[in-house]
Amino acid sequence: MFSTTPVVYAVGDEYQIIFYVRRQAYAKIRIGGREFDDCVCGVMRSAKGMRKISVPRTLLEGCGEYTLVIQNILTRAAYGTKIIKTTEKKFIFRPVIIGETVRAFMTGDSHGDIESAVKSAETFGKFDFLIVNGDIPNKCDKVCNFETAHNIAAKLTGGRIPVVFAKGNHENRGAAAELMFDYIPLKNGKTYYAFRLGSIWGLVLDCGEDKEDNHPEYGSSVRFHAFRQEQTEFIRKVIADAENEYNAPGVEHRIVVSHIPFIRDMNKLFTIEEETYSEWAKLLFEIKPEAIFSAHMHTYEIMRDGAKHARFPAPCPTVVGTERRDDYLGGAGITFEKDGITVQFTTSKGETVLSEKI
Ligand SMILES: [Fe+2]
Repeated sequence: MFSTTPVVYAVGDEYQIIFYVRRQAYAKIRIGGREFDDCVCGVMRSAKGMRKISVPRTLLEGCGEYTLVIQNILTRAAYGTKIIKTTEKKFIFRPVIIGETVRAFMTGDSHGDIESAVKSAETFGKFDFLIVNGDIPNKCDKVCNFETAHNIAAKLTGGRIPVVFAKGNHENRGAAAELMFDYIPLKNGKTYYAFRLGSIWGLVLDCGEDKEDNHPEYGSSVRFHAFRQEQTEFIRKVIADAENEYNAPGVEHRIVVSHIPFIRDMNKLFTIEEETYSEWAKLLFEIKPEAIFSAHMHTYEIMRDGAKHARFPAPCPTVVGTERRDDYLGGAGITFEKDGITVQFTTSKGETVLSEKI
């Protein structure tokens, strides 16, 4: 019945649980006696494919388990649809705990290579949450391309620990890109949001594509300039609500997750959005994150303020942590401790390339 394991994405004050049903079925999540149905304006979804159910963060963290209920149905009928079989499966959930050393792994730039993404994480060993940082499929010309991120996350987390998702630029490419919003985690319909995992507060930003909107490669299919400006307002709102966001009780670490390292200088064609990205960098001085975690460059780099490729002054280093070569993919192991963050770059070949405190 469960062709993929659920994946528990952290988004704002919710977890959004994404899973797959192989045939026509209703679905719900049960937590501590409460049920959360997969429905739209009161109508239960029943089509086979990917599903997404949101549940309150504190409820799932408090209960430490959830049950996925799948009710197979005979043909969906206008009158008299029948449930033919109900299957339930319980999952233990381990939230990130305040006050403990926390280990996370960031994967990205897999471009469809699920096996290498999983192996690079296994090199790091056990961790408490996963960051899936974009360009997970190479393109999205079919809805099933969005399954790639969930498949990697399901293999690495088993539905037992949280996952943070940031959209890359390759998720924007192809005929199914406009349908992504049913298949990835979102807050208020957007791919940018804040999240909270134990003592860690995070901000996910979405730069969209890596070139100007009018680049011929896109064929007028994108409008990311306005989307980035929208995020400037979002960051300002986060700062205005600091007491409930990054200054909330128990927050000990603040991070930013963005597929594209917007602080970094790029080659000419890719050096875009000067005004907006410099404003984001300025606003981050208010938030004072410890690091910006990025991918996109297919390399490893810890770019500190004033470094050769640093385009704007920034309050923290940018960690680009997804080296990709013909024979391996790397990711970043991140250890949060009271006195700071340590980053290790690990590869699908079982190597640890670097370990550095930032
Ligand atoms: Fe990218």
